[in-house]
Amino acid sequence: MTTYYSKITGWGMYVPERVLTNHDLAQMVDTSDEWIVTRTGIRERHIAADGEATVSMALKASEKALEVAGITAADLDLIIFASSTPDYLCPPASSLLQDRLGATKAGAMVLVAGCSGFVYGLVTASQFIQTGLYQHILVVGTEKLSWAVDWSDRNTCVLFGDGAGAVIVSRSLEPGGLISARLGSEGAEGDALIVPAIGSIEPLTPEKIERNEHKIRMDGRRIFKFATQVMVDAVVDVVSAAGLTINDIDLIIPHQANERIIDLAVRRLGVDRSKVLINIDRYGNTSAASVPLALCEALDQGRIQPGDRIVMVAFGAGLTYAACLWEWQGAETREEPILVSNWPISETLRERLQQMRVAAWRAQTEARAKLSDATMAVMLPLYTFRKGVKKRLGK
Ligand code: UT7
Repeated sequence: MTTYYSKITGWGMYVPERVLTNHDLAQMVDTSDEWIVTRTGIRERHIAADGEATVSMALKASEKALEVAGITAADLDLIIFASSTPDYLCPPASSLLQDRLGATKAGAMVLVAGCSGFVYGLVTASQFIQTGLYQHILVVGTEKLSWAVDWSDRNTCVLFGDGAGAVIVSRSLEPGGLISARLGSEGAEGDALIVPAIGSIEPLTPEKIERNEHKIRMDGRRIFKFATQVMVDAVVDVVSAAGLTINDIDLIIPHQANERIIDLAVRRLGVDRSKVLINIDRYGNTSAASVPLALCEALDQGRIQPGDRIVMVAFGAGLTYAACLWEWQGAETREEPILVSNWPISETLRERLQQMRVAAWRAQTEARAKLSDATMAVMLPLYTFRKGVKKRLGK
C-alpha cells in the first residue's frame, strides 16, 4: 500500500493595516506601555478596518497560500477554518470563504478550538491526506478579536489583535510532514475564558449588552498557570512520541499569548530561546491566527529549511491545547533523525538506547518543571507580602 505524507506546500498571512500601539491604549484605559511590555511582551497589534471581517481577512491569506502552492482554489478538496470570531453564527465562515475563493469542489467546515484551532486543523487535515482521501486542503486560522473584546476592560483589551494565516496541506510521497500530535481539552476550566451572553443557553438581552457580557471575560492568572503546564507536557509528548528529544527540534512555534508564558515553558523544556519563534511584540494574541502567522514569518525569514523538525504548540479557550511535530520536506530531508542510529550496533540495542535517551530527557524536563513550581511557590507569597507592605506604606 502506498504511504502518503502531509506536506505544507503553500502559506500566506494577512494583517490589517491599522496598528494600535500600547501608547494608543493608554489613552483609552488605565494602562501603560511599560505594564503591557513587561507583563506580556506586546508592543502593538493590528486592528481590522470598518467593513473588514474574519472571512475577508482569511480570503487574503488563503489567496497567498494558494499562489505559493501553485494551485487554484478549484483544486481544493477541503477547507478547515479555525476561528472563534465568525462573520455570522450561521452560515459558517468556511462556506463563505469557499464561495469567495471559488473553491467549487471543496468541502468546508469551521473548527472551533480557541487559540488551539489552527494546530487542531493541521492535524485534522493531515488525517485526510495520509489516508489518501484528499489531495489539497486549505487550513486557515483567522480572528477579528477587536470585535469580541471589551474595550473598557484593561485586563483583556491590551492583549488581543486581528489577523489571518493560512497553509495548503497537500498529499506527498516525500517522507515527513506530520510526525506526531497531541490534542487536549480541559473543559472544566472553560469559564476561565468565556463570552457569557452569546449562545443558545439564554437570550441576549439589552441588560447583558449593557454589562458587556457579549464580550470576552478572562481569568488571566488561571490561564497562565494552565498554559505553562500544558505547553510543556504537550511538547514533551509529541517529541518523545517521535522517539526524539528536545535537542533534535530545530524550531518551536508557540501560540503567542504572553512572552512570559513562552519564556517559562522554554526554560522548563530546556530549549535554547534562539530556537523559539516570538512575534507577539507586533501582533499581540491573535488566537487561532497566532501559530500560522508565526509559521508564515518563520518561512518568509528562511528560518525553516528542508529536514527541519518543528513543533507547533497552542492553548486557549476550552480550555484546549494542541501540539504537533512537523518535519519539513524538501530535497535534503534527513535520512537519519536520531544520533544513536549511526552507531554500528544491533537494531534492538539501538532502540533501547534511544528509549533511554528520550526517557532521560523527559525526566530532566519534569525535574526542571518541579523546581520551577517550587521556586514559584516560595516567591509568590513573598511577592504578595511585599506588595501588601508597599500598599500599607502608601508607596
Ligand atoms: O490565548 C489564551 C488567552 N489568554 C491568555 O493566554 C492569558 C494568560 N494570562 C496572562 O497573560 C496574564 O495573566 C495577564 C497578562 C492577563 C495578566 O498578567 P498578570 O501578571 O497575571 O497580572 P494580574 O492579573 O495578576 O494583575 C496584576 C495587576 C493587577 O493589579 P493589583 O490587583 O495587583 O493592584 C491588575 O489590576 O495588574 C493590574 N492590571 C493592569 N495594570 C495596568 C491588569 N491589567 C492591566 C493593564 N494595565 N492592562
